[in-house]
Amino acid sequence: MKTRLTGDSGLELSAIGLGCMGMSWVYAESERDDAESDRVIKRAVDLGVTFIDTADLYGPFTNEELVGRALAGRRDEVVLATKCGLVPDMSLYPTKVKVTPNGRPEHIRASIDGSLRRLGTDHVDLYQLHRIDPEVPIEESWGAMAELVAAGKARHIGLSEAKVEHLERASAIHPVATLQSELSLWSRDPLADVLPWCQANGVGFLPFSPLGRGFLTGTIRSADQLPPSDFRAQQPRFAPTALERNLRIVDGVEKVAQRHDATPAQVALAWVLAQGPHVVPIPGSTRLAHLEDNVKSVDLELGEADLVELDGLPAPVGTRF
Ligand SMILES: NC(=O)c1ccc[n+]([C@@H]2O[C@H](COP(=O)([O-])OP(=O)(O)OC[C@H]3O[C@@H](n4cnc5c(N)ncnc54)[C@H](OP(=O)(O)O)[C@@H]3O)[C@@H](O)[C@H]2O)c1
Repeated sequence: MKTRLTGDSGLELSAIGLGCMGMSWVYAESERDDAESDRVIKRAVDLGVTFIDTADLYGPFTNEELVGRALAGRRDEVVLATKCGLVPDMSLYPTKVKVTPNGRPEHIRASIDGSLRRLGTDHVDLYQLHRIDPEVPIEESWGAMAELVAAGKARHIGLSEAKVEHLERASAIHPVATLQSELSLWSRDPLADVLPWCQANGVGFLPFSPLGRGFLTGTIRSADQLPPSDFRAQQPRFAPTALERNLRIVDGVEKVAQRHDATPAQVALAWVLAQGPHVVPIPGSTRLAHLEDNVKSVDLELGEADLVELDGLPAPVGTRF
């Protein structure tokens, strides 16, 4: 497995990570299988995917426990990342997913202790603030995050879905090792400002949902495939008429994939990897076959003509949320 140095922090990650969210949160609840998820995490490490991403939100809490169990005895082989700062309202879940940012220092301090206990470790390699809390100045939240580095509970700290303004304000207090934001062939907003800012300022960029929440793999061709309780069924891009029109994007990805004897998932990931040397996507998978498919994207070299073709794919119909 190739590795990438993500920015100035010295954090070295496998060129793709493994996102564990879908194993315990918002997707395909009826198909969940903790035993298979455990095998996926272990196999990922065997294959050299050493960057593992979770959050206290996922479950909530149970995903960290699952990850902790799967990594027992192998903790030192991985770069373990988790997040705090988003609190779910479970009264409507999963019919409606409602989460509220909490960036108060006392919440951050308490959250890491819970995460370390569930993960079965005394430190995480990357602790990420899941969202900026509009009610709390970033300086206060980030100051609390920096204290965790000083206390040895986190090796590095990162942000998620932050704007350039937040990155600048946080960086003035303590280095931002990474930024996690949605980036894929149908979610390209970060290319305009945040991704180049990260490259210029030595911050690693970790694209989440790089497979378009599964859509870009070509396996979701009809809204009927998603039960109403699946988070995706509630999102504008997956609404029946939007989804049907968005299949034009998948058709374009499949065309490139055929030329390379690759899968659409591999092309979608290779495009993300081509966005810069500081970029490490975190595809999510709950199945061994998908994990093994995704790992091969690291060796897929897209040519200039492929990238131009993929860059020219239609914009999606429907907003992200
Ligand atoms: N910071 C944030 O706010 C935030 C938000 C969302 C996600 N994330 C992180 O990003 C990670 C990934 O995001 P995501 O799960 O939303 O989206 P994703 O990686 O774009 O897509 C995941 C979906 O794609 C399917 N899939 C994966 N590989 C496949 C393949 N080779 N062929 C066919 N289908 C495939 C998965 O199905 P199977 O499960 O059946 O394999 C799953 O339904 C999460 O696990 C989490 O760590 C962070």
